[in-house]
Amino acid sequence: MDFFEVVKRRRTTNGPFLPDPVKPEHQRLLVEAAAMAPSHFNSQPWRFALIDEKEKIEEIARISGESMARLMEEGTFWKRYRPYFRFSEAEMEERRDGIFIDQMPSVLKPFRKQIFSNTGQSIMNRFGVPKTLGEDNRKLVANSPLILAVMLDKNEYRPGELSGFYSVFGMGAAVENIWLATAELGMGIQFVSTPMEIPENWRRIEEIIAMPEDLALMAVYRLGYVPEGNKRPTIDWQSSQRKRLSQFVFRNSCETPEDDEVGLGGVAPEGFESPVRPGPERRDGNP
Ligand SMILES: Cc1cc2nc3c(=O)[nH]c(=O)nc-3n(C[C@H](O)[C@H](O)[C@H](O)COP(=O)(O)O)c2cc1C
Repeated sequence: MDFFEVVKRRRTTNGPFLPDPVKPEHQRLLVEAAAMAPSHFNSQPWRFALIDEKEKIEEIARISGESMARLMEEGTFWKRYRPYFRFSEAEMEERRDGIFIDQMPSVLKPFRKQIFSNTGQSIMNRFGVPKTLGEDNRKLVANSPLILAVMLDKNEYRPGELSGFYSVFGMGAAVENIWLATAELGMGIQFVSTPMEIPENWRRIEEIIAMPEDLALMAVYRLGYVPEGNKRPTIDWQSSQRKRLSQFVFRNSCETPEDDEVGLGGVAPEGFESPVRPGPERRDGNP
């Protein structure tokens, strides 16, 4: 696949994967792609655990679902992540960042804007939303054929020191290589992040993978092959929008936002529709 096509197709997968195991050669390609990432002084501070044993995956899934239900029920999730929620397509179009939950059971739609209030929280708890979401999450993880745990060598990962920053930077590059490789291989990937928000649950995952003391568990992902024409999950969001150049790039000085139209017609292949590029109506000079 063309490089820009891969970059464009890389996505987070919210829905289920096919039950097919991830081929060993594909698992290998994923971690080989990771290994090619840059790291400071070529330190390669990342470590990966590939988990394909059903019982281990189910145990991680239980922890993930439980964590999701707890975070939702206690309201921690909504409080922590409120700034990232958008409530309409218009708001999304204006800001071009965050996530817009556009797919949800119709019973919840009238309460969309209230989910962050105490009333909204108690309505959701009354409808059993946290348990439903927790169970949906457990199933998604349990039915994923592959879990990937990403760790860092604590000799490099020393939070508060430059080395801590560099190692996280390198790990990000390695994970992006894996993420891009999934697009090439017809696979999908999603963070399994809720256990990270509850320290004792994160430790339970460290125990499941028998992580030694000299490593730090940084992230857990679920991976698998993506079915064709996948149906959207009951609760789903849009997050493919990207800021315009003028919203995140400056020219020469941070006082001069980049021109949104600069370099159009450049190297991107024919048909490459980056979400950063202004739509046809803007190119015509219309608002
Ligand atoms: C550090 C980090 C944490 C993330 N945490 C989650 C997460 O907990 N759950 C999830 O589904 N996606 C998570 N994502 C994925 C983002 O939501 C996603 O990249 C963003 O919404 C853009 O969507 P896209 O990946 O489909 O382009 C995370 C991404 C990053 C880089």
